[in-house]
Amino acid sequence: MTISQPTWVFGYGSLIWKQDFPFLETRPARIIGWQRRFWQGSHDHRGVPQDAGRVVTLVAAPGEPCDGRAFLVEPEVFEHLDHREKNGYQRIAVDILFASGRARGVVYRASEDNVAFLGPAPLQEMAEQINRCSGPSGSNRDYVLKLALALRELGYEDPHVFQVESWVLQPQASRAGKTV
Ligand code: SIN
Repeated sequence: MTISQPTWVFGYGSLIWKQDFPFLETRPARIIGWQRRFWQGSHDHRGVPQDAGRVVTLVAAPGEPCDGRAFLVEPEVFEHLDHREKNGYQRIAVDILFASGRARGVVYRASEDNVAFLGPAPLQEMAEQINRCSGPSGSNRDYVLKLALALRELGYEDPHVFQVESWVLQPQASRAGKTV
């Protein structure tokens, strides 16, 4: 997909809280038909090849909203974003909804057939993996906590993210139902 004019990119994961790229404008935004899930492996940012962390991708969910933040960026910014999101993510076209109005834009999605895709796992397992892993961009735990905080600050509800966050924050003993 060649981009030759300023384009909206919809962020639903680290793009919401980590802007290491210039943008012309940003707005809270929503896309429809997708759910955010910690189902993508990360061996370049929040894990390493021998122990991949878990980061979010989008899973098809007809009619369901996914809330995030959109950024209007110049075409050359996509070189940086493509590199940042290279571990399994591909740009796809999407309709982005704003409080008023909408725009055609793009989103980075890691599909089920990419080699780093992990898919679902029990919450306890995901939390243990997240608390254990870290990579060149920092700890996997930090990724989860920053995403949950950013969503809360935007006033969004995301039961999956908040559930993973609460498991990540629980001491291991209480997760296993034991007293300390
Ligand atoms: C995004 O934030 O939109 C993509 C996933 C990520 O980089 O965490």
